[in-house]
Amino acid sequence: MNQQNMPIAVFDSGLGGISVLKELVRLMPRENYIYYGDSKNAPYGTKSIREVCDLTLANIDFLIKKKTAKAIVVACNTATSAAVAILRETHPFMPIIGIEPAIKPAVMEKLHGRILVLATEMTLREQKFSLLVEKYRDCGEIITLAAPGIVELVEKGLTEGPELDHYLEKLLEPYRQQPIDAIVLGCTHFPFVNGGIRKTLGYDVTIYDGSLGTAKEAERQLILRDLANPDGNPGKIEFFNSRGDRKILVLCEKLLHA
Ligand code: DGL
Repeated sequence: MNQQNMPIAVFDSGLGGISVLKELVRLMPRENYIYYGDSKNAPYGTKSIREVCDLTLANIDFLIKKKTAKAIVVACNTATSAAVAILRETHPFMPIIGIEPAIKPAVMEKLHGRILVLATEMTLREQKFSLLVEKYRDCGEIITLAAPGIVELVEKGLTEGPELDHYLEKLLEPYRQQPIDAIVLGCTHFPFVNGGIRKTLGYDVTIYDGSLGTAKEAERQLILRDLANPDGNPGKIEFFNSRGDRKILVLCEKLLHA
């Protein structure tokens, strides 16, 4: 197979990376994609860096052995913090695109505002994140909050409803009275509950996530290496999941079109 026709491999701890896949497909509809979610081992965000690193390396190996890919998108902030550097060392000729919380656009557009970053525990405690916050510390007030419950609900397909409402009300209670200017979704599961976040806060807030930036970087890398698919037809999307049941694959399709 010609390298340009090979798929782009997209990986996440579970279903969250589908929010990035959506953006990739919107930007590069002619590309073929294989998506692998490790829902059997999700959540990653509450695990140790060692565990997340081992799982990410093993799963990406599995994925590129299953289908030869021309690029890898690590559509998971947690796996990116834990493993992107090692992945790049292990696969030196493969374009590997990671994701990080979109703090930069948020602080630039809401200069000196209050910015709430929602992410997993692991993302928030890793050095990659501290360095990012350090860079923009003088541009605004950056508040961080771990929200592991959203990951669990999205994994069950619960992107709306009373269970989510209840969780968000408790989580966001302090920010209902003391408004924030922007929210950065630093976990790829979270964009699926955008509506719930807005409803809970009850006021207008700008929400940022890293999916568009990641998709643009993937496109840039493909063009740079002459790897973009020149075919005129819409590409194919294939889903795989470590849970292996039919139900989870149906949920993948549903989230892709949500
Ligand atoms: N979707 C992942 C992220 O972007 C992590 C969710 C999890 O497994 O905890 O961080």
